[in-house]
Amino acid sequence: MLVTNYFYDLPEETKESIYLYEYNLILSKEVEIIQLHRKRSIVYEMKNKGIILKKFLSEGKGDNDIYALLELNSSPYFPKIYAYKKREFLFVEKVNGKTLSQVLKEGITNNELKEIVLKMIEAKKDMMNVDRYDFDFKFEHIYWDTENSTLKWIDLGACVKNPIGYSEEEKKKRIKYCINQVKQQFAKYGYSLLDNLEGL
Ligand SMILES: Nc1ncnc2c1ncn2[C@@H]1O[C@H](COP(=O)(O)OP(=O)(O)O)[C@@H](O)[C@H]1O
Ligand SMILES: [Mg+2]
Repeated sequence: MLVTNYFYDLPEETKESIYLYEYNLILSKEVEIIQLHRKRSIVYEMKNKGIILKKFLSEGKGDNDIYALLELNSSPYFPKIYAYKKREFLFVEKVNGKTLSQVLKEGITNNELKEIVLKMIEAKKDMMNVDRYDFDFKFEHIYWDTENSTLKWIDLGACVKNPIGYSEEEKKKRIKYCINQVKQQFAKYGYSLLDNLEGL
């Protein structure tokens, strides 16, 4: 198991649980399964610790999840990665808030929507700058915490690295494509296109 700098900021008890997991592959009782994807992964929450454990199954090696988060660890738009073992598991920050699809269904103001879009574009830029493209981009993977105005992009399982890198022109093209995708989604939820975002 390897740990990141963020790991050392965790409370002692949490660090211990993570170490114990490595030795026994057993989690404390304070754990709840939040998703069981029969082929790719099992996702657990370490209750009251604000930590998610993603355990990779045979068909999901998790390399994208791990390496994308490591490369993006200075970006505020992705969860912090604490510890991982290649092809086996990943401990990551549990993000707060609601998914963007929930938020849009419940209704938000235009100002808040604008803030979300701007942050999503920043997140997308950070991702393009490490030459990665998320083929599983969807609003269920974008979390918005309205209290703290924070946006977090989760599930980088299909966030694939382009080994030869993207040219500046290609990056711009892909960012633009992402903005269009987002606008289309908004329209689907009944939100009109944001005029002041035209030209971005
Ligand atoms: N860091 C996280 N914070 C909060 N919830 C998460 C986090 N990671 C995963 N989840 C929850 O678990 C679900 C499955 O995780 P995900 O990474 O999307 O797995 P998969 O690759 O199998 O789709 C997510 O849709 C979300 O509800
Ligand atoms: Mg997912």
